Amino acid sequence: MLASRAIAAPARQCLRQARAPQRWLPAVPQSHRRAYAIPTEEKVAKFPGKKGPDGNFTVTLIEGDGIGPEISQSVKDIFAAAKVPIKWESVDVTPILKDGKTAIPDDAISSVRRNFVALKGPLATPIGKGHVSLNLTLRRTFNLFANVRPCKSIAGYKTPYDNVDTVLIRENTEGEYSGIEHVVVDGVVQSIKLITKEASERVLRYAFQYATDVGKPKVRAVHKATIMKMSDGLFLSLAREVAKDFPGVEFESELLDNTCLRIVTDPTPYSDKVLVMPNLYGDILSDMCAGLIGGLGLTPSGNIGDECSIFEAVHGSAPDIAGKGLANPTALLLSSIMMLQHMGLNEHAQKIQQAIFDVLAEGKTITGDLGGKAKTAEYAEAVMRRL
Ligand SMILES: NC(=O)c1ccc[n+]([C@@H]2O[C@H](COP(=O)([O-])OP(=O)(O)OC[C@H]3O[C@@H](n4cnc5c(N)ncnc54)[C@H](O)[C@@H]3O)[C@@H](O)[C@H]2O)c1
Repeated sequence: MLASRAIAAPARQCLRQARAPQRWLPAVPQSHRRAYAIPTEEKVAKFPGKKGPDGNFTVTLIEGDGIGPEISQSVKDIFAAAKVPIKWESVDVTPILKDGKTAIPDDAISSVRRNFVALKGPLATPIGKGHVSLNLTLRRTFNLFANVRPCKSIAGYKTPYDNVDTVLIRENTEGEYSGIEHVVVDGVVQSIKLITKEASERVLRYAFQYATDVGKPKVRAVHKATIMKMSDGLFLSLAREVAKDFPGVEFESELLDNTCLRIVTDPTPYSDKVLVMPNLYGDILSDMCAGLIGGLGLTPSGNIGDECSIFEAVHGSAPDIAGKGLANPTALLLSSIMMLQHMGLNEHAQKIQQAIFDVLAEGKTITGDLGGKAKTAEYAEAVMRRL
């Protein structure tokens, strides 16, 4: 039986482009191409927010499900104690059905659009029934094209490796996750990995820009262009072209299997690099890197888009400990620090981050998941005392 699903027109167009690659033309004017610092007007996903008359930025807060409200409270308390110039706008993202599809309520969408930035707690996803993943819906609604995952060892929390300091940037909108799948004949299915010049160039440019902003001297593209010569080949050739616009950043490339082997053997050589890669590779490798620092519980992330960006902890809603005051808010706090850096509030970010690392290194007031006895609020108070 043939149950082939039609490929959408833009996808067909992209496939045609991939078959007959044109010479890639840089979007950056020639006059700017040798500059080391990125001129503000050319920045990808630049935060355009402005402080209000009260001197504060407004940030959308999606507290989330399960432990979400508890860990969000810690962020709010610590930000208030650190006098971060931020006003929170809490929104409800309980899904609604629009034309038979899961959608985010309009008020929540307009809040994120108005503020250009949001902090998000974990959202529970029903398995095998009900609405589709709200996390996926948010990513699609706002076209959050890059997922940024820094993984840094935390002193005081022993893992097999000390000094892990990796940054991985994953293309978040296409590749193997384009959702273009069909049955060719019974027992034979086809899944299309879509790689476009537009989405690849955008995430690659963001990776070089991020490396420049955080002072990492190298960008390494991770790929399998030896096997997927056209799709990963396009990603890799675009990476080489984009690299020419960033002469202060060294460009390298590496096969995915080699990266996996080397990074688990010794992550230290990856400390000076930003790794950038297509969607599926990034999904898997980012969790592997989180494993190197002790798992998802301590890992922050940023979902970056042209219009707005959403920062979130990587862990879930932890229903088993919800409402008991036992949750560790570190991952959401570290995500909120990424958010402050994105907004240019670097001094506040640095101050709060140092206080968190000091409390964790001291090891006296840490939560149960890290082997301590402190409640969520006690840990937050210890961080506030350190500010
Ligand atoms: N980004 C997101 O919003 C996101 C991510 C993953 C899972 N989820 C959703 O969360 C729900 C639960 O998922 P799960 O149980 O597979 O994973 P989970 O991350 O919620 O929990 C796994 C284990 O880790 C513990 N844990 C997680 N975060 C913790 C924290 N901050 N402090 C202390 N312990 C913590 C939990 O108690 C649990 O034992 C599901 O509905 C899932 O779809 C959401």
